Amino acid sequence: MAQDPEEALPPYFGISPDEALAELGAPVGTRDLAAIAETCARGRDDLAGRGHEAHGRKTLRLFSTWEITRYLIPVAQAHFRRVLRQNPALPQGRTETAGGAKWFTLDEVLRLRAHFAAEGSRAKPYAPWRPAGLPAKVAAIANFKGGVGKTSMAAHLAMSAALDGYRVLVVDLDSQGSMTSIFSGRVATEWDTVFPLVARDYALGLQAENRRRVERGEPPLPLDETLTAALEKSAADVIQRTHWPSIDLIGAQLNLYWAEFQIPVWRMSLRAWKLWEALGRAFERDGVLDAYDLVILDTPPALGYLTINGLTAADILLVPLGASFLEFDSTGRFFDMLHSTFASIEDGENIAARALGRPEIRFEWDAVRAVITRYDAGQQAELAALMQAYFGRTLSPFRQDFTALVGQAGEQAGGIYEADYRDFNRETYARGRQTFDATYAAFKKLLLAAWRRDELEAASEAGAATTAREPEHRKETA
Ligand SMILES: Nc1ncnc2c1ncn2[C@@H]1O[C@H](COP(=O)(O)OP(=O)(O)OP(=O)(O)O)[C@@H](O)[C@H]1O
Ligand SMILES: [Mg+2]
Repeated sequence: MAQDPEEALPPYFGISPDEALAELGAPVGTRDLAAIAETCARGRDDLAGRGHEAHGRKTLRLFSTWEITRYLIPVAQAHFRRVLRQNPALPQGRTETAGGAKWFTLDEVLRLRAHFAAEGSRAKPYAPWRPAGLPAKVAAIANFKGGVGKTSMAAHLAMSAALDGYRVLVVDLDSQGSMTSIFSGRVATEWDTVFPLVARDYALGLQAENRRRVERGEPPLPLDETLTAALEKSAADVIQRTHWPSIDLIGAQLNLYWAEFQIPVWRMSLRAWKLWEALGRAFERDGVLDAYDLVILDTPPALGYLTINGLTAADILLVPLGASFLEFDSTGRFFDMLHSTFASIEDGENIAARALGRPEIRFEWDAVRAVITRYDAGQQAELAALMQAYFGRTLSPFRQDFTALVGQAGEQAGGIYEADYRDFNRETYARGRQTFDATYAAFKKLLLAAWRRDELEAASEAGAATTAREPEHRKETA
């Protein structure tokens, strides 16, 4: 059949300027932008309110016996039920229908796990390993390329580590606040973010400088209102609880972006202030590394001052990227930027250190790994193999598959671990969960290896005749 030539024309031909004008509307001014923002905020609150409790906070779903015995406490269902029957003091779960499956809150699951860890077989890894006496590990997820899966990876790692039994602190360094939304955080101003911790670090530096100035008979530098207020703040003031019993949050919101302007100004007035260490020092000062097992930092798609702080505080750096040319290309440049940024800090500091006869600084991470996310084996195997060849061991051999569960569940549901498996086809659920469980497993291997290395080093420094005690669950360090 012959085609109508009119219909075959591409859509950009034949646009009438008058018709286009009729659709255009009036010019847009600043007030209109405010109106757009205001309607978006209303829509957001409406959406955020759905599925939430009346007081506006998210609640975590329940966990079924099937899910607990399959994913969280590896015992046979029959044995699990028997242990519950024999121990009436343990949480017994609730049913939705008579004789239906038993469901438990995560708090109850954690109590049950503690029971199994204390009473059950020693050979089974009920509780995850952490060497005694060593600080929490800090993991930063970073890439200056946007949309590569940083926040998804950070949120899923936090949730899987929490399900595994670790106590987790999630820190949102991105003023977009996506991570904060996932954990339903409440952040009124920058004072509920890491901002006061960074400001306090500078204020303490300024106070130390002023003591030196007084000794030299020079006038002290003034501490403004912000800095004086920051001196009163500590991590406990900005850490909030989330709907996950073992995940706490330091949130972010738009005002946090202000830190990107403020930090360099502070540095200008006090060259001795090591701005890149502010966050890590705050964690140490406030005992954060003792209160948690794992701190996970989500960073913005930029190598700004907050990201640099996050990277300096981190022991493990994960760099997510997709198996596409553009993401490979810009991730390569991200590594180049990391190198020049940290090398220039080292150079600047070490010139002074050498002159003063002080030890030189050297940045070091337990592990730095690029991780392929949103992987489509059908389309991307060749490019991924090529990336693997160039990156070598820096690219984790594990690839996180693309799964509709993340996009679908979206930020509202908080991803796979918050989704109720009954809402999905079992197989889709199992596959999606598997790829994020494997993301966590690859990360946990780095985590345990890094802890183990520290433990062995501490033992050899202590001059112990015997090597450090073998971890209880040898398999976990294998
Ligand atoms: N494994 C996956 N499968 C499918 N979609 C995914 C997967 N991981 C992430 N996504 C989707 O990719 C998009 C970008 O992810 P995300 O927001 O985590 O990236 P980001 O790097 O944090 O972005 P930004 O740079 O803006 O902070 C989101 O829509 C997310 O749902
Ligand atoms: Mg993000």
